Amino acid sequence: LTARADIEQSMDSSRSPSNDSAFLDDFAMMSTFGATGGGGVDRQAATLEYGRARKWLAGWLAGRGFRVERDRIGNLFGFLELTPGAPYVLIGSHLDSQPRGGRFDGAYGVLAAAHATDRVRNRYQRNGTRAALNIAVVDWFNEEGSRFQPSMMGSAVFTGKLDLENALNTSDAGGISVREAMSAIDELGSNRIGSENVVAAAYVEIHIEQGKTLEKEATDIGLVASTWAANKYEIEVLGAQSHTGATDMEDRQDALYGAALVVAAVRDIADTFPGQLHTSCGQLTVFPNSPNTVAGKVRMHLDLRTSDDPILVEAERNLRQRCAAIELKANVKIDTRRSHSWSANHYQLEGVELARRTAEDLGLRHMEIRTRAGHDSTNMKDLVPTVMLFIPSVGGISHSELEYTADPDLCNGVTMLTELLARIAAGELAGTVSGPRP
Ligand code: GLV
Ligand code: MN
Ligand code: MN
Repeated sequence: LTARADIEQSMDSSRSPSNDSAFLDDFAMMSTFGATGGGGVDRQAATLEYGRARKWLAGWLAGRGFRVERDRIGNLFGFLELTPGAPYVLIGSHLDSQPRGGRFDGAYGVLAAAHATDRVRNRYQRNGTRAALNIAVVDWFNEEGSRFQPSMMGSAVFTGKLDLENALNTSDAGGISVREAMSAIDELGSNRIGSENVVAAAYVEIHIEQGKTLEKEATDIGLVASTWAANKYEIEVLGAQSHTGATDMEDRQDALYGAALVVAAVRDIADTFPGQLHTSCGQLTVFPNSPNTVAGKVRMHLDLRTSDDPILVEAERNLRQRCAAIELKANVKIDTRRSHSWSANHYQLEGVELARRTAEDLGLRHMEIRTRAGHDSTNMKDLVPTVMLFIPSVGGISHSELEYTADPDLCNGVTMLTELLARIAAGELAGTVSGPRP
């Protein structure tokens, strides 16, 4: 077979209606774990529903001969050994969701990875060639960071950016630690995967865009070339608890009033960089949160995100200045701690180029794109050559039950991922080893 005929033959098998419907059936099944009335899922990290989704995935992988293991932070791996001793290409995303989140964010990428790997394995079995790389499907623990901060926790531990013990000791709002919650659903392993017997050579992830660009441009596949930067902050506004009726206005140290001014200031800062800076306060916890008590303390989570590192520096300076002014105006104290950040960065060019050639060979419409959201690939790209793909999101809606991607787009994505994975496993991504294509 010529390379071209080879591609066309495998393309046909990847695109078969039975493969597509098998994927869509599994995706429907996956979406039942934590399903909400509004078509989304509520499956925060280390909850019961999360554990159920993972056990279903683990069963799916084990049933197809993958070796399933969890590491010590609870990342779940399905290892497919094609060539004993060879390094691994990791492929995956995350099964955890936001509260009342969408069913596509993360879960699509994990299931697409599982199906793509299974299809690539079938190709190797059919034609008997040797792969240059083995494949591991991965479900990263706690990408969302809604219950336990920071986000992208499992991939941060895997890449050495976050200390394992710190991560395990992190508590949710109710005081339950990652270690306790993950032990309770039996999802913690004992392996130090990544530093012992598994050498990661590359990483691949597919995800919904969570933006409107691909839909607007009528494009099937986004080739993610770079990421926006982000700074996340944990802020405490400290006042004094008192009576809402009896306390004189001039005596008040109202933490909620101070917090409200911070919320408005953060929005104003975005408006000074139109189209270039996204800011928000996503969470506000009021103490004691009683109707007739002036709040003594408010904890808030803020984030600042931009395509441009210098804008982030300027935005942070602006935030600190505004907080100093709010301390005087509201008679409160504001403690600002930057809790998580990443910089505007590129994905490896070789990966973007390989993905571009793959999309062209498959006849899929493609374009370069930038991710505004963080992903586990944001961590992994700093460790190994990493390729990130997007498929369209209707209306760009995400972190919402209304999140939606149409079936043909889901199936195109799996077809694309399969072919890309086949090429990477064959060693076609620069920076990894090379060998024959299946
Ligand atoms: C990802 O977790 C993000 O905050 O974008
Ligand atoms: Mn995600
Ligand atoms: Mn998300």
